[in-house]
Amino acid sequence: MVKIINGKEISNSLIEKLKEKVDKLKLESNVCPSLAVIMVGDNPASKIYVNNKKRICEKIGIKSYEFVLPANAPESELLKLICGLNKREDINGILVQLPLPPHINEKKIIENIAPLKDVDAFNETNVGKIMTGNFKFLPCTPAGIVYLLKESNIKIEGQHCVIIGRSNIVGKPLAMLMLHNNATVTICHSKTQGLREICKTADILIAAVGKPKFISSDMIKPGAVVVDVGINRDINGYVCGDVDFEKVKDVASYITPVPGGVGPMTIAMLMKNTITAALLQKNI
Ligand code: GUN
Repeated sequence: MVKIINGKEISNSLIEKLKEKVDKLKLESNVCPSLAVIMVGDNPASKIYVNNKKRICEKIGIKSYEFVLPANAPESELLKLICGLNKREDINGILVQLPLPPHINEKKIIENIAPLKDVDAFNETNVGKIMTGNFKFLPCTPAGIVYLLKESNIKIEGQHCVIIGRSNIVGKPLAMLMLHNNATVTICHSKTQGLREICKTADILIAAVGKPKFISSDMIKPGAVVVDVGINRDINGYVCGDVDFEKVKDVASYITPVPGGVGPMTIAMLMKNTITAALLQKNI
């Protein structure tokens, strides 16, 4: 019988723990972690994500600041804002909500966030630290996935983990993280040949493809753990993942649902990184 990994429940319990940590920090060290979220334009999906981040900050006791620039704001204005926030002692974490409008160079923006305030762990200093294992922050989605696996008592060491997707935000850092946890890792992508056969060898299959219900039951080894990172809409407009949940659940041993699987973990990990940023900056 498949076990459905309840990301909402695991995330809520982590959020409770983080709240206790923040309460203690305020009481014992007079430190209140803070997060600045920057949005350029009014992308409706980004607005929802930013509001969720603000809501969870409030729940935990993290101070949040929101900065909204118009969609046509020049890149220089965003850089000036980041430069100012880098210097402010009362700001511990800086997050620039992606995607940015096409006239802004995303890479340049990310590289201008101070590494100790880069709570997304997207800039090259933090990515390099993830490669060597000497990291302070981990990108939120990969960190959330490993947290879900560990909380569900799923063995990672020695297991063959197949990741479909090679993005800088999910696939690549996740591969490193699984490797640090002693998994044997294969990364697949749109040009991979024999994808189905490779997937069938996975003990842990992680799908970050961005295609609704792309992973079918004939791609799964019986008893495999299946983690779905996708957030898509199906042909009827309902939110669905990259995995054909209804069919794959009959073959897998564990599976994450969409919604309510990986998604809720991403915000919880952002909160964890913000608290880590505050501790590092205050030398606690
Ligand atoms: N847009 C979608 N997901 C993310 C994320 O994890 N971080 C940032 N900064 N923007 C996003």
